[in-house]
Amino acid sequence: MPEFVHKPVMATEALDALRPCPGGRYADGTIGGGGHAAIILAASSPTGWLFGCDRDGAAVEAARAQLAEFAGRFEIRHGNFAELADWVPAASCDGVLLDLGVSSPQLDSPERGFSFQQDGPLDMRMDAQQPMTAADLVNGAGVEELAGIFGEFGGERKARKCAKAIVGERDRHPFKTTRQLAGFIERLAPRHGRKTHPATKIFQALRIAVNDEVGSLKRGLEAAVKILKPGGRLAVITFHSLEDRLVKDFGRARARDYAFTGGVDVPELREPRLPELKWITRKAIKPGAAELAENPRSRSAQLRVMEKI
Ligand SMILES: C[S@@+](CC[C@H](N)C(=O)[O-])C[C@H]1O[C@@H](n2cnc3c(N)ncnc32)[C@H](O)[C@@H]1O
Repeated sequence: MPEFVHKPVMATEALDALRPCPGGRYADGTIGGGGHAAIILAASSPTGWLFGCDRDGAAVEAARAQLAEFAGRFEIRHGNFAELADWVPAASCDGVLLDLGVSSPQLDSPERGFSFQQDGPLDMRMDAQQPMTAADLVNGAGVEELAGIFGEFGGERKARKCAKAIVGERDRHPFKTTRQLAGFIERLAPRHGRKTHPATKIFQALRIAVNDEVGSLKRGLEAAVKILKPGGRLAVITFHSLEDRLVKDFGRARARDYAFTGGVDVPELREPRLPELKWITRKAIKPGAAELAENPRSRSAQLRVMEKI
């Protein structure tokens, strides 16, 4: 496995959003290699406190080592940020950070099976203790389920065609490795000069499904609001449009002074309630030119910032 090095994305912008200060309490729900966490702890020295978690046990170990100089000022647990409110006291935090997606060490370790740049087992689990792998899904789910995953989580236009072909192929040749699946998709939907690999969307969709990223994010946003103090800030860095839309819709719903049911906002049926959040920035913040030039993986990042009322 490569050394656990992950360059924190939009670190300056996240710091501006969270405004860490001595005595403040912060939560990092995606601690990864501890990059953002180190910056938060340094900026809140000497008395700031950090709660951290990650679904990836290797990340938790790496973060604890990376943050050794701040020993006594943090608690890091192995777990899903969806469960943050189960162990972080309610209304205790001045800032919560979620830096979604996968880390460079996860992407760059072939044995984790996130990428088809190198061959590895079709795994994709962030949490190695979870039973279901991407291979289980690809070799076990029906056409409808696979097509739904590829379409909804990957925005794949040929979702059904890919799902049908996979189901037709797997009885003879079960899908075991990343390159095997990527090669199969490429033969099905050749590049025709496109720069991105035809399997990119299918891999993103499988990763989202294997790790229940949509369900975790919805529950994680709820948990973040619970653990924030009034005036505390929630900063979320997303890497694709599905995540960003979820964050935007969540923020919009919580910033309204009314609720509605049934998915349609009919003025006569609105139920008044107090807004819980306000937007700090109307639009998503994007990485600056210098970061984009230095770290190509930041190119799809977007930061949204809300404040608890
Ligand atoms: C982009 S990396 C974070 C990097 C980190 N901010 C840093 O500076 O080192 C995303 C991390 O979030 C973790 N992760 C993704 N979804 C999670 C969830 N629902 N709960 C906890 N950790 C999660 C991944 O395992 C990965 O380590």
